[in-house]
Amino acid sequence: MSNTACKVSVVSAVLAVTISLLTHDSNAEHKDDNTKCDLYKGSWVFDKSYPLYDSAKCPLILQQFNCPGNGRPDLRYQKYRWQPNNCNLTRWDEREFGRKMRGKRIMFVGDSLSMNQWQSLACMILSSYPRSPYHPTNTPPLSTIFFPELNVTLMYMRNALIVDLEIQKTHKVLKLDSINSATANQWLQTDVLIFDTWHWWLHTGRKQPWDLIQDGKIMRKEMDRLKAYERGLMTWTKWINKNLDANRVKVFFQGVSPDHWNASDWGMPETQRCGGEEEPLKQAATVEGEVINYRSADFILKKVLKRLKKPVHLLDIEELSKFRVDGHPSIYGNPKKIGMDCTHWCLPGVPDTWNQLLYATLLTF
Ligand SMILES: *[C@@H]1O[C@H](CO)[C@@H](O)[C@H](O)[C@H]1NC(C)=O
Ligand SMILES: *[C@@H]1O[C@H](CO)[C@@H](O)[C@H](O)[C@H]1NC(C)=O
Ligand SMILES: *[C@@H]1O[C@H](CO)[C@@H](O)[C@H](O)[C@H]1NC(C)=O
Repeated sequence: MSNTACKVSVVSAVLAVTISLLTHDSNAEHKDDNTKCDLYKGSWVFDKSYPLYDSAKCPLILQQFNCPGNGRPDLRYQKYRWQPNNCNLTRWDEREFGRKMRGKRIMFVGDSLSMNQWQSLACMILSSYPRSPYHPTNTPPLSTIFFPELNVTLMYMRNALIVDLEIQKTHKVLKLDSINSATANQWLQTDVLIFDTWHWWLHTGRKQPWDLIQDGKIMRKEMDRLKAYERGLMTWTKWINKNLDANRVKVFFQGVSPDHWNASDWGMPETQRCGGEEEPLKQAATVEGEVINYRSADFILKKVLKRLKKPVHLLDIEELSKFRVDGHPSIYGNPKKIGMDCTHWCLPGVPDTWNQLLYATLLTF
């Protein structure tokens, strides 16, 4: 495992902010309409009132996201606020959040980008209710934080591929058309669910968590990864269509979180990766090299979500996060500054915005 991202071995969920998929699509059809409020179209503006919390005062933060704690000297990246073009993003208000969410169970399901957003939300809440005792418990694959003052349970279930990974005889089999019902039943015992999957679909070699891929009756050693990802998402969509009681559970999907591994995509020497970047990009990186993968993944995700018969909100974070080349841990994912992480995000940071989008959307439910 060569970098921090792999160490955690959780994968990549990004967050989703969301306007219902339908609304968002219809916005896309009116590209010329400059007056519509699309929370996902806008720019990053410097705002000295940010960040929303201090990582040093968030004891539950994982080391790999705690960039200031690992010695990152520049902190300007914490001070950018997402400003939609034609409207304002509701400012995070933890009192309002507490009122809205009292007695609720919120679960993030996915890879380490899901965990990144889960931690961000936990720190956002904790900074306002610092005296509230919380009880982090960790019984893999589930991590739980309970806020007694709010009676809110905030959970993260590691489920990097969403579909099943099963041991059959001596092989680990990725089952593209199956979702474990015991796991899924836990998803349904919640009020808000935020899914994500993507980064683990690309892993090969030692990092690849399966030996074989099963798709219906066909068993394969290898297949096109984007195809596999699409098949997995389709299985999830069918599961949602069949099992979700949308009156009881609000479901979100975190769009594909962009990474910034190839600096030549934004005109810097390729070898630099995201290291040393202290400012957001003015223009999103041009799409070359590795970047193409996440864009294709985002495209597939949107295509598959159209098959949903239940309301699911896409936290469409791909585009806005693409500018934030400065937001990754780079070498500050650990105090020894070993390795480079251009996949996850420092906290406080970009996932706080994903959560503000989540919050703004929850208010309208
Ligand atoms: C957004 O906020 C700014 C500053 O508070 C305000 O001047 C502006 O009218 C707001 N825009 C909308 C669409 O509410
Ligand atoms: C906390 O919320 C649960 C529902 O999730 C409810 O059953 C319970 O009564 C609540 N407890 C308190 C003290 O309000
Ligand atoms: C990085 O991007 C450049 C162009 O943007 C491309 O030519 C190069 O092959 C990419 N490198 C890798 C390792 O993907």
